[in-house]
Amino acid sequence: MKSKIVVTGGLGFIGSHTVVELLQNNYEVVIIDNCSNSSEAVLDGIYNITGIQPVFEKLDLRQKEKVIDFFNRHNDVTGVIHFAASKAVGESVENPLLYYENNLNTLVYTLQALEHTAKANFIFSSSCTVYGEAEELPITENAPVKPAISPYGNTKQIGEEIIRDLAQVKPNFNAIALRYFNPIGAHQSAEIGELPIGVPLNLVPFITQTAAGLRDQLSVFGNDYPTPDGTCIRDYIHVVDLAKAHVVALERLLHKKNIQDFELFNLGTGVGNSVLEVIQSFEKVSDQKLNYKIAPRRSGDVISAYADTTLANDVLGWKTSYNLDEAIASAWKWEQKIRNKNTD
Ligand code: UD1
Repeated sequence: MKSKIVVTGGLGFIGSHTVVELLQNNYEVVIIDNCSNSSEAVLDGIYNITGIQPVFEKLDLRQKEKVIDFFNRHNDVTGVIHFAASKAVGESVENPLLYYENNLNTLVYTLQALEHTAKANFIFSSSCTVYGEAEELPITENAPVKPAISPYGNTKQIGEEIIRDLAQVKPNFNAIALRYFNPIGAHQSAEIGELPIGVPLNLVPFITQTAAGLRDQLSVFGNDYPTPDGTCIRDYIHVVDLAKAHVVALERLLHKKNIQDFELFNLGTGVGNSVLEVIQSFEKVSDQKLNYKIAPRRSGDVISAYADTTLANDVLGWKTSYNLDEAIASAWKWEQKIRNKNTD
């Protein structure tokens, strides 16, 4: 019998790519999503890639009774991958309570609902944002967690703590938090990808939308940082590599290979690239010039963040297979596909 996995936020950017990997690895998948930042059309993309229509329930995890009811109906789940959350840093500063409700109440309700299931293997989406401006690069999992600079970042830190506390007392509850660096790119089929609503805040969708003519010009936020070319450095990881890591982490729990009830792993490539290097990569793979200007620094940006991937490589037995050019090329292919669709 297939193992049943619930994916919350399974229609989102990372969630949908993870659903594809799970289906391709023979798992039964049930997607929960409230479609606040995603679309049911993503199900078609998943079907076109896998030939499988996963079960989908439109559900808002803030509705506690409905969450409990959902897990009562699916009390045979063997694992939950919890992506559902809001992720806009600026919005979280403007509306902190929305973020605490969306990202923490929902986590608590989901964990409470899981009390009714026999086995509760739990994967949590965390972020490298917990490290802030790290003192040492590359960043290992032992780097201290810094005071969060935004409510969004705080929800990731508190989320990890909630799970850690629960794992200490709840028998049969095992969890892994995955601290993502900067996920980019799209599935090689261009059937699914990132679908930012409104003006993108992240670098790569802003680049591809600029090249596609939706935005006039990219602003490079600061070129006077203490880095080789003056622009900030990040670890850009292909979303498909990231998605595969979720399956590996889940299987670690399903096969009881975990050493602790709660474990943490960085998910990155281990390579840091500057904003200008990302632009150069885009220009190379798309064979066109990008319209950009140097603009003032964006408040809250760290200078440099890239992962030490040793733990994920050695303990999870996972490593990335795509480089920056491949990830950017997939993002560009996806952008062109959705623009053509919109003008059909
Ligand atoms: C951001 C969040 C991070 C979150 C992640 C989710 C902040 C401070 N951090 O990461 O907490 O987990 O998104 O994906 O918002 N850049 C430009 N011009 C742009 C956009 C970005 O120069 O129009 C630069 C930024 O200054 C940064 C780099 O590109 O140096 C990457 O930015 P972005 O894609 O927004 O990711 P992070 O800020 O690293």
